[in-house]
Amino acid sequence: MALWDRVAIVGSRGQLGTDLMAAFADLAPLALDRPAFDLENPASMAALLAQHRPTLVINTAAFHDVERCESEPALAFAVNALGVDALAEACRNAGAALMHVSTDYVFDGAARAPYPESAPPSPLSVYAISKVAGERLIARHGGTWFVVRTCGLYGVAGSRVKGTTFAETMLRKARAGEALRVVDDQTVAPSYTRDVAGAMRAIARSERPGIYHVTNAGACSWYEFAAEIFRQAGIAANLTPVSSAQFPTRARRPAYSLLANEGLHEIGYSMPTWQAGLRAYLQAKGLLGAPAPAS
Ligand SMILES: NC(=O)c1ccc[n+]([C@@H]2O[C@H](COP(=O)([O-])OP(=O)(O)OC[C@H]3O[C@@H](n4cnc5c(N)ncnc54)[C@H](OP(=O)(O)O)[C@@H]3O)[C@@H](O)[C@H]2O)c1
Repeated sequence: MALWDRVAIVGSRGQLGTDLMAAFADLAPLALDRPAFDLENPASMAALLAQHRPTLVINTAAFHDVERCESEPALAFAVNALGVDALAEACRNAGAALMHVSTDYVFDGAARAPYPESAPPSPLSVYAISKVAGERLIARHGGTWFVVRTCGLYGVAGSRVKGTTFAETMLRKARAGEALRVVDDQTVAPSYTRDVAGAMRAIARSERPGIYHVTNAGACSWYEFAAEIFRQAGIAANLTPVSSAQFPTRARRPAYSLLANEGLHEIGYSMPTWQAGLRAYLQAKGLLGAPAPAS
């Protein structure tokens, strides 16, 4: 029996979940969502997995409002750590492999070269600590598991937590004539959920468990990402780079969180650039304009 014979997707209505449902559409994946399937309710997960017997469960579900996690650590750990622990146990008992989505925030950002999968986590925030705990708890059950760490997600469905994407927010504010100040001192690889979902399918097909870093290729700051959004959308914006010190937040974020996609390279898969991912996203949303030439 192949790993992907019966695929189930937890959090199928999220922005990554929506694109995973599409990436595995030919396999008619099973959608597992709240309230019937709840990471905070181990019995609900055990019952549905025993009933449907998937061969691979892909978990996108998380409490990932990074600021709220600082003030609600119990909820962050209930979902991202203990919920994932219970999910891993239920998967092992049902004979299913687990592919779990984690984050670039597991690193502290002190590095100056992309983090390989083997780099030791050093989380800075409650959210990040809870995600590292989830990763570690999965491993204790001894089943077949994959952890896919990604960065700066955006997708056509929009984040369920934020109700929108960074690009949509930027475009809405620019159209309203707002002056935009965007941080220029965090290095990231914004990643299109359709590209990430395609890579996750390739990882499942490889049947090589372990940790994978999956991001669009290249690097930019949020300011550079915003500038490229306006360029590709063909919209003039009043955009100014600022330092993160000018936007104090409760949660500390890594200043540098590039992920070397070494595991992907080993299975012969490469990701499009972040600019190509953005273009595909804007096109899918009907937001692509006549871009001005790059300056
Ligand atoms: N967004 C980013 O920039 C980013 C960056 C790196 C890593 N990640 C990770 O990527 C994953 C997917 O993110 P996303 O942006 O696609 O998230 P999203 O759009 O907010 O979707 C999250 C999904 O999780 C579900 N969910 C939340 N709590 C749940 C629970 N207790 N039980 C069952 N389902 C629950 C939500 O269900 P409802 O539909 O009921 O709300 C929603 O469908 C997360 O694991 C996140 O930590 C995200």
